[in-house]
Amino acid sequence: MIFRQLFDAESSTYTNLLADEATRGAALIDPVREQVTRDLAVLRELSLKLVYVLDTHVHADHITAAGVLRAQTGARTVAGKKGASCADVQVGLGDVVRVGSIAISVLETPGHTDDSVSYRVDGHVFTGDALMMRAAGLTDFQNGNAGQLYDTITRVLFALPDETQVHPAHDYKGLTVTTIGEEKRWNARVAGRNREEFIELMNGLNLPKPKKIDIAVPANLLCGFPADVVVREIGPEALGSRQAAARLIDVRERAEFEGDDLGHLEAAELVPLATLKAASVQWNRDEPIYLVCKSGRRSATAAAELLELGFTNVVSVQGGMEAVNKAGMPVVRREQRSS
Ligand code: FE2
Repeated sequence: MIFRQLFDAESSTYTNLLADEATRGAALIDPVREQVTRDLAVLRELSLKLVYVLDTHVHADHITAAGVLRAQTGARTVAGKKGASCADVQVGLGDVVRVGSIAISVLETPGHTDDSVSYRVDGHVFTGDALMMRAAGLTDFQNGNAGQLYDTITRVLFALPDETQVHPAHDYKGLTVTTIGEEKRWNARVAGRNREEFIELMNGLNLPKPKKIDIAVPANLLCGFPADVVVREIGPEALGSRQAAARLIDVRERAEFEGDDLGHLEAAELVPLATLKAASVQWNRDEPIYLVCKSGRRSATAAAELLELGFTNVVSVQGGMEAVNKAGMPVVRREQRSS
């Protein structure tokens, strides 16, 4: 199994990448929206295809990249049954998510939030914010419950073999990995405390709530898109004559734009998705903008990004250049350009 631990310094979040060497299928656990470009680069460099994006819970401190990664790669999103209903797959105790020969089995580990799950793979467990390194996730916001978290840690997670490697979603002190055995002995919140003492400690912590909670929780319930972002789509025929009067942006890579396979629309400007934000600084936020890509996934992501940046009139072309070609609309191909 290929295993990479990635880190987002702003939210101190660990994103874990698991991949099957034979099939090159990959899963990302708890990806962060601001790190999509990095994560996609790692996948590309390791010749991996993202199959699943798994969140351990509805996070309050960062926005998940699940929806954006789904839009860009076609991966399926996975969350606990009580978590984000936007996920493609809702999982509970005993469910197994398979990526090639890797079997990711689900443990229900509520307490930090009621939807928290942990993912177990061979000798590893990915615990989100349930069991952390020498710590445990807070229980005094969202739908946390200190007693429930104590039961999760002591009865579910501490029931795993002592040598099991524990990979939480965060660490704030530079630690990277721990084991069940170490945490039984050294966990600063649980070790040596009974249930009542743990509840008293957790309820008395009075730590500040995560800074992004008011934005992150509603966005994460929508797989990472803010609640007010609704992407408008039109079919290629409806684009028709409108393309001349609007800004038409093709967000594919240059090789796809210039390639002979699908060609491109004559009025289209090439702005690969990764460069969209920088390029859009020059554009009028109220002018109509049509976005196109190969299949309609990247253009929908691009539209959501522009709406978040304050653009008001953004439309994604459903089905992308594949649909444009299927509809028999004129496209520019290299042989036409050189003739
Ligand atoms: Fe959390």
